[in-house]
Amino acid sequence: MSQPLVPICVIGAGTMGRGIAQVALASGHPVHLVDPDAAQLAAAESEIITRLTRKDPAAGALVEERLDLLTDLTQARTDPRTIVIEAILERLDVKQTVLRRAADHFGTSCILATNTSSLSVTAIAAGVPDPSRVVGMHFFNPVPVMRLVEVVRGLQSDDEAVDAITELAERWGKSVAHVRSVPGFIVNRVARAFYGESLRLVEERAGTPETIDELMRAAGGFRMGPFELMDLIGNDVNFAVTRTVWASYDYDPRFAPSLIQSEIVAAGRLGRKTGQGFFEYGESVERPLPRAADVDAAAQARDITMILHGSDDQLGTLLTRAGVEFGRTESEDPHIEFVGAGSVLITRGLTAREETSRRGEPVLLLDRCLAPSTATAVALASTDAPLADAVIALLHRAGVRAFPVADVPGLVVARILSMIANEAWETAYHDVASPGDIDNAMVLGTNYPMGPFAWSAQWSSHRVLELLDALWSSYHDPRYRASFALRTAAPASSLANGQAKEARSHV
Ligand code: NAI
Repeated sequence: MSQPLVPICVIGAGTMGRGIAQVALASGHPVHLVDPDAAQLAAAESEIITRLTRKDPAAGALVEERLDLLTDLTQARTDPRTIVIEAILERLDVKQTVLRRAADHFGTSCILATNTSSLSVTAIAAGVPDPSRVVGMHFFNPVPVMRLVEVVRGLQSDDEAVDAITELAERWGKSVAHVRSVPGFIVNRVARAFYGESLRLVEERAGTPETIDELMRAAGGFRMGPFELMDLIGNDVNFAVTRTVWASYDYDPRFAPSLIQSEIVAAGRLGRKTGQGFFEYGESVERPLPRAADVDAAAQARDITMILHGSDDQLGTLLTRAGVEFGRTESEDPHIEFVGAGSVLITRGLTAREETSRRGEPVLLLDRCLAPSTATAVALASTDAPLADAVIALLHRAGVRAFPVADVPGLVVARILSMIANEAWETAYHDVASPGDIDNAMVLGTNYPMGPFAWSAQWSSHRVLELLDALWSSYHDPRYRASFALRTAAPASSLANGQAKEARSHV
């Protein structure tokens, strides 16, 4: 006969606790659900039954048999194999007290998991008799739907406890990303740049929130833009998380919040929950969509000879999608020459003005797309109106809407994604998590279309480094300092010959 599954003691029956109890029950574990608030327990039970009976009408009886609702931990049967998972108030002293009581009750060798999202697992562990038994088990909301669990190793966590929590998460159908206990773990750390750099772009008046959101969706392939996502999370919550992470990294400028956030919070524009944030919400309010550049009829009719110099996937795909005839030459300097009008380049971090003065000809800069063959919008900046009209006409033929933005270094998608990638490289460099776990966490925990190491490899890490170094030269702001790991993977010599060594083998 197979061994009965280990009992799970979930402490806290709120949003997360009831989700964790549900997945444990669905996997066949006996579950103690503990919360001093009896109303929370009753609400949790009925929510769990409703959700589970949707899939299996017989699940109600099963829940009654296996779910044990308790207002006090000490009412639980003392099976020493019990795994405790706390999902209570996000306060260090409260979590320490509750886990200490759990260790007293189930025995000091029992495994204690914490679902903390922002506290140090090492610090929580320091409050229990045997810190080696404490491991972070960071679920994402809603727990039954989100596949990612960050398994967080505190300074004193032992391998056996980490392995047991990993096995448990996997048994529950979750995908595990292993991470050391650092502020923000993987997801809440690496994702900071998604918001932070977007806010910078608005501060610099590069584009409006609706334009940046549209570019991140249509050129970046993200399901939601940063501003609509901040409105969904709540600007107060997002601002608080940003401030916590920033303070935890000793006010590193990479994580600095934006004055735009403090203003919007001060105004009470917290997002969807208050009906107004960066955007307005309400039954009759539609999502604001930015207006793309008009297509100039004369430019559309004009016959311009185009030559693709060098190879660049995005430039080649644009010409192919537009269905135009074009010449080709070998070159180390990828660009489309609009003969007699100027050149089109993908941003490498310099402004269009700088590129124009370097090349001695009109230049139009295109932003990067993550999937050039399916992108439906792109940002651009140009020093020359006739060249811009010609490129906008070409983009129109390719089914791509053009969004002129201010001539800022790195434009929009390339700049935001390079900053996220930089944080990912730094996270791996400090051995907080592996590149594979970071990519996995960002895809499953935040619904990114691909992981930052995957897009570094697609664009090539030397291009990401080149863009960051250009940002640094433009702003002299330490937030743009490139990770040493990225620099090592894409050394200066490879910049010259275009042979970037890629992430996975180098971090
Ligand atoms: P919640 O406010 O929905 O639920 C917390 C529950 O804990 C309440 O039912 C409360 O009665 C109970 N509680 C408070 N003190 C207790 C104690 N001493 N003993 C037993 N129960 C106690 O909170 P939520 O959102 O479920 O968050 C819980 C934890 O999960 C926090 O640490 C949070 O940071 C973390 N987390 C939250 C996520 C989210 O999206 N809500 C995502 C990932 C982690």
